Amino acid sequence: MAFNLLLLPGDGIGPEVMGEVKKLVDWMNKTGMVKFETETDLVGGAAFDAHKVAVSEDAMKKALSADAVLFGAVGGPKWDNVPYDARPEAGLLRLRKDLGLFANLRPAICYPALADASSLKRDLVEGLDIVIVRELTGGVYFGEPKEIVTLENGEKRAVDTQVYTTHEIERIGRVAFELARKRNNKVTSSEKRNVMKSGVLWNQVISALHKREYPDVTLEHQLADALGMQLVRYPKQFDVIVTDNLFGDMLSDVAAMLTGSLGMLPSASLGAEDPSTGKRKALYEPVHGSAPDIAGRGLANPIAMFGSFAMALRYSFGLGKEADLVEKAISMALDQGLRTKDIAAPGQNAVSTTEMGDTIIKTVQKLAG
Ligand code: IPM
Ligand code: MN
Repeated sequence: MAFNLLLLPGDGIGPEVMGEVKKLVDWMNKTGMVKFETETDLVGGAAFDAHKVAVSEDAMKKALSADAVLFGAVGGPKWDNVPYDARPEAGLLRLRKDLGLFANLRPAICYPALADASSLKRDLVEGLDIVIVRELTGGVYFGEPKEIVTLENGEKRAVDTQVYTTHEIERIGRVAFELARKRNNKVTSSEKRNVMKSGVLWNQVISALHKREYPDVTLEHQLADALGMQLVRYPKQFDVIVTDNLFGDMLSDVAAMLTGSLGMLPSASLGAEDPSTGKRKALYEPVHGSAPDIAGRGLANPIAMFGSFAMALRYSFGLGKEADLVEKAISMALDQGLRTKDIAAPGQNAVSTTEMGDTIIKTVQKLAG
């Protein structure tokens, strides 16, 4: 049976980095190593240009029926003035919400070869291996009311709503604890219980869940501001970090820089397991954005996109061995000294998106051979 894979390259550097991964998908298909049926559709600004929406109903239908979605990136200055509901980011947010992708896994691994590309000192980041588990379908991203209203005096008032229920916190907590058990058995939960009611509840629910179901896992709580500080002070203290949608957004960008570049971080967004099929809806995307400033110039780093594909192989298709191959190939390409511009040391020669992509693919082929 073939796996159904939907490719949504999106905007900016999205199509370039997706193009590299597509070559790998096609090769894997050709060898019979895997059997993917791939479809491609538009999302973000590209969808707006074609259909005046950030994601079409047709693309949503494909996403809902796919075994996994591979997503590039969305957004860019070209769409700064489109209606709010049709802005490129709305396409991604709708996919997350409608597919129920509440669990966003953002691993940050610092390859030894890249420790000098980080803005932190080598000994702080070398060998770093942490995962941020970000809640992805709740919190201030989706809470209602969410509006700008005009007051009687003519002044405007903007509202976003931070809201979490027990079950939303519990299910993301479970993902974090389960993951920690397969790693170094430690979870750091982060909120702002000193200022926010949602933080108070978050803390209570995570603590109770820990006591009830995961007493074997070490649990720590850190306020989100302090965690931001600790992440750049001594990042290796962490194993799994679990936090809400907004804090997770911010902290994962910080974590990205620990690894050398935003161009290195993959992510997996997973839904709940369907009790009848055992399958989860899933979307895989690099953490970096569309980087319009470098789009179309062959400068983009495709590693986060390859890493996202590796996560898809592992989490959606049960192809752990093939995922290992891709991850190994990434690390070998780096060991060989290959660098795109974002991770090149000053004065070091930088390769193009395609050169990096081709090397990774060739290495996978060799390793598989
Ligand atoms: C991310 C991005 C998105 C987010 C944007 C593009 C809506 O920054 O995935 O981290 O804020 O979640
Ligand atoms: Mn972000």
